Amino acid sequence: MSKVTVVGAGNVGATCANVLAFNEVADEVVMLDVKEGVSEGKAMDMMQTAQLLGFDSTLVGCTNDYAQTANSDVVVITSGIPRKPGMTREELIGVNAGIVKSVAENLLKYSPNAIIVVISNPMDTMTYLALKALGLPKNRVIGMGGALDSSRFKYFLSQAIGCNANEVEGMVIGGHGDTTMIPLTRFATYKGMPVANFISAEKLEEVAAATMVGGATLSCWVLLHGMHRVQQEHSSLNLSCTTKRKWFLVQYSWKANTANLIFASVFLLSWARMASKRSLN
Ligand SMILES: NC(=O)c1ccc[n+]([C@@H]2O[C@H](COP(=O)([O-])OP(=O)(O)OC[C@H]3O[C@@H](n4cnc5c(N)ncnc54)[C@H](O)[C@@H]3O)[C@@H](O)[C@H]2O)c1
Repeated sequence: MSKVTVVGAGNVGATCANVLAFNEVADEVVMLDVKEGVSEGKAMDMMQTAQLLGFDSTLVGCTNDYAQTANSDVVVITSGIPRKPGMTREELIGVNAGIVKSVAENLLKYSPNAIIVVISNPMDTMTYLALKALGLPKNRVIGMGGALDSSRFKYFLSQAIGCNANEVEGMVIGGHGDTTMIPLTRFATYKGMPVANFISAEKLEEVAAATMVGGATLSCWVLLHGMHRVQQEHSSLNLSCTTKRKWFLVQYSWKANTANLIFASVFLLSWARMASKRSLN
């Protein structure tokens, strides 16, 4: 019998568990969360659609009870906080590192042979943390982020070309971060032909840029929803949609620039130190 555990029953975890069960990827899917009753409720809700949708997998939810995850073939870690509008993924590291490490250790106690899939952000760092903390061979700890980035890239390409995303091939390499991912524009194809045959170089650059901030753009939509609510509650606040977007972009670019500045300073300092060592030698 195959078994998959998903830790975290939030937006990503619950969707992941639902897709796994619906596609009968495993006989049993266990969803675990720290919040009392959340996984149990969501699992029951999904299982009540089993007959309607015609799937046979069993989906169960539990609150922090790792015994129920025992003997999983694959475990998916989505637990942790997501970023708020204007935040970079890297800013989540302080909170999520502790969560991912303890969750991974608990999972391994009950499923010593499981393959670990890490989703929590900052995904690359969390995957490396899990690898080091668990001491497993590297083919058993996998991070998921590049697959989503590539899928986003193909979506934006399809929008620019005006076609179905399934007719587009493309890949994003690098890190799962706004400034570290690299959409391979030159190798992207539409029906086997270079996408450059169908869209201008300028449009292709726009597609690459949109892909890199794809996650942040989604947070922006969530922010817009939040601001609409605030506006409804305080009707005297008359913010236009453009104002809200601008506010987000100012906040976001300020944070991204700060992160770049810190990175550049650290790089320059290390370079200066190396150069002074060399000149001393
Ligand atoms: N890698 C990717 O491509 C990708 C894509 C989207 C989101 N993410 C990341 O995935 C994570 C989850 O995002 P989300 O939108 O589902 O957030 P969410 O807030 O909707 O859900 C997170 C869930 O984790 C639970 N949780 C927190 N600590 C826990 C613990 N110690 N044990 C068990 N459960 C715990 C919370 O109770 C919550 O239900 C975030 O870090 C987000 O940035 C990654």
